[in-house]
Amino acid sequence: MTEKELLVQKIRNGTVIDHIVAGKALQVLSILGVSGSEGKTITVAMNVPSRKYGRKDIIKIENTYLSSEITNKISLITPHATVNIIKEYEVIEKRPLELPEEFIGLFKCPNPNCITNSDEPIETKFYLTSKDPPLLRCRYCGRIYSSSEVI
Ligand code: CTP
Ligand code: ZN
Repeated sequence: MTEKELLVQKIRNGTVIDHIVAGKALQVLSILGVSGSEGKTITVAMNVPSRKYGRKDIIKIENTYLSSEITNKISLITPHATVNIIKEYEVIEKRPLELPEEFIGLFKCPNPNCITNSDEPIETKFYLTSKDPPLLRCRYCGRIYSSSEVI
């Protein structure tokens, strides 16, 4: 453990999302639906030195355990992040990310003529049609988008 890694304190209980692509932490928080207004203690470190990737972002959310269903969504933004579950200061689980097959109600369809952008109260839904790079197909208008187009 180097001095640099100790810049960010260890937590007692909660979730640590590590090895996030440098600069993407705020996008990750938004896709997780974590805004900070819930009152949770959240530490966000951006562009910190990393042995594996040069620079990385880290997010620590105390006293919160996110479901795999939720954490898997961030693989669209940062496929190589690690989700660490911490209990009493120990890493008890290291969760690999798996790209979900569908994304419901999370993104807006970029097609202005899509029915999900009309006055109809229809929840958006995208299917994963390809993994590397990830491509998403709108269930309603059928158009296919890269992840950066919908995020
Ligand atoms: N961590 C933490 N609080 C703890 C334990 C770990 O905040 N009580 C953080 C560490 O700082 C690190 C991440 O959780 O960012 C994973 O911890 P660990 O598995 O100990 O680190 P590494 O071995 O470096 O992880 P990896 O192999 O995934 O790089
Ligand atoms: Zn659409």
